[in-house]
Amino acid sequence: MTPLATHNPIIIALDVESAADARSLIHRIGPRVNFYKVGLELYAAAGMDFVRGLLSDGHRIFLDLKFYDIPETVSRAVARVAATGVDFLTIHAVPSVMRAAAAARRGSNLRLLAVTVLTSFGSEDLDDLGFEGTIAELVERRAHKAMELGIDGIVASPLEAAAVRSIIGPDAVLVTPGVRSAGADKGDQKRVATPAQAIRDGASYLVIGRQVTRAADPAAEVDRILFELAEVG
Ligand code: C5P
Repeated sequence: MTPLATHNPIIIALDVESAADARSLIHRIGPRVNFYKVGLELYAAAGMDFVRGLLSDGHRIFLDLKFYDIPETVSRAVARVAATGVDFLTIHAVPSVMRAAAAARRGSNLRLLAVTVLTSFGSEDLDDLGFEGTIAELVERRAHKAMELGIDGIVASPLEAAAVRSIIGPDAVLVTPGVRSAGADKGDQKRVATPAQAIRDGASYLVIGRQVTRAADPAAEVDRILFELAEVG
């Protein structure tokens, strides 16, 4: 039993290089978590058949492929993902991409999450693309636009969570990666918050990777996070 009686906000990032490694990790984590993120690495290794297998085992899936292409291609690819029963899919928060994606998933249970600005982007990258203003301003502008175009939620750093929540309102989904328990190794993440802080700031789901996936005992690490979250109330 976990200390959380209702909504479990943890999504574990399956950042591993093979289906076998992913299966082993899921097995070790056990029933504590049922929501997994498949990103580019595992998708490139194991593909959609593997994702379908996880779905048919009863897992919820966040497919983090960050679609960004011409509207026709986005539309057709989103329709294929929507047909599988995947729960969340990421797309870039560019108006033409969001419009095409929103139309293509109509009638399905797929929820679209917009990535406003990649956290690896610096102000120089924005200058290079011809954007004026700050990264924070662009994040806010794109979050507004995403809601206007019928996107279901936003992926945001925990440090932007409170600002993004105030823009998207109480019902939209807010997913935050970059979450670490106090004292856990930060890896290459600089802008981190604790799971409890991210939830207090309005996150609906937390994507957790290395703190759990690289731990000697992943299940114990999940229990530690669930325990910390139980105190948020
Ligand atoms: O750092 P950690 O291993 O917990 O990262 C888990 C996941 O969150 C990774 O799959 C990574 O792609 C994603 N991430 C992100 N934005 C960040 C940091 C991590 O989307 N700033």
